[in-house]
Amino acid sequence: MKHFINLDELSNKDFNQIINHAIVLKKQHKSGQINKTLENKTLAMIFDKSSTRTRVSFETGMTQLGGHALFLSDRDIQLGRGEPIIDSAIVIGSMVDGVVMRVSSHKDINTFAQNANVPIINALSDESHPCQLLADMMTYKEHKGDIQGKTVAWIGDGNNMCHTYMQAAKVFNFTLNIAAPENYQPNPSFIEKYADHIHLFTDAKAACQAVDLVVTDVWASMGQEDEQKKREIAFKDFQVNDDLMSSAKPDAAFMHCLPAHRGEEVSASVIDGSQSLVWNEAENRLHAQKALLLYLLT
Ligand code: CP
Ligand code: NVA
Repeated sequence: MKHFINLDELSNKDFNQIINHAIVLKKQHKSGQINKTLENKTLAMIFDKSSTRTRVSFETGMTQLGGHALFLSDRDIQLGRGEPIIDSAIVIGSMVDGVVMRVSSHKDINTFAQNANVPIINALSDESHPCQLLADMMTYKEHKGDIQGKTVAWIGDGNNMCHTYMQAAKVFNFTLNIAAPENYQPNPSFIEKYADHIHLFTDAKAACQAVDLVVTDVWASMGQEDEQKKREIAFKDFQVNDDLMSSAKPDAAFMHCLPAHRGEEVSASVIDGSQSLVWNEAENRLHAQKALLLYLLT
């Protein structure tokens, strides 16, 4: 049985297979072809944090593939009232064919996976967000080709998305320049593990020098709302704007997992400008995750 909890658990070959399949599924869907491969399959989706893209893409993806998705907010299920994660995993796993989990603690996803008898998908944890990277890598491939050997700049918080780009740098064999403020660096264990694929910068413009892709994310992630003001000060020199983009290659792309805060981590001119791929990136969550579901559930 396969899970999708950490990006680097899958080989480069498996990823390329999923991404290529996602590109085919996208074309088939747009041409009106019906694919009911997941008929009679049920996907449970446990969310203890907000979501637009992840929820809509998994739910729609299951419908398009002939299956069913159950949205389980922690406000509604007994897990949110303190039922042990192990008990919840045994019970939910005994009924459904796969589980998508967006929870605060990455450890809880691992515990759930150890106790549920079905594939588990990490839909964002405090540590990583592998589903987003599937869509990002698919988007890069569609618009720019192979990312292998390219250089990507991560600007901003050393957060869950940054960690996942570090894992992607290893799996897809690209170089990742990371520019984060001093107290907002990625987890030291990630820095050590992915050292061969990353370069750390203190200056955002230097990190963008001649890169092929610039990526950022919010300065305050979900659960860090009370740090917003403090973070605005710490991150003030880490906004992706026209000046920063002028350091990158002229045809460099811009990506952001969304939701975005224009005027904070990214200027409106960049996110709404010609180098931005954010809308394709968001749409590709649907196609990439359909390919992931077919890979895991069939
Ligand atoms: N990028 C992303 O995961 O968006 P949502 O939080 O809306 O799911
Ligand atoms: N780093 C952000 C990503 C949202 C998709 C968060 O965790 O809130």
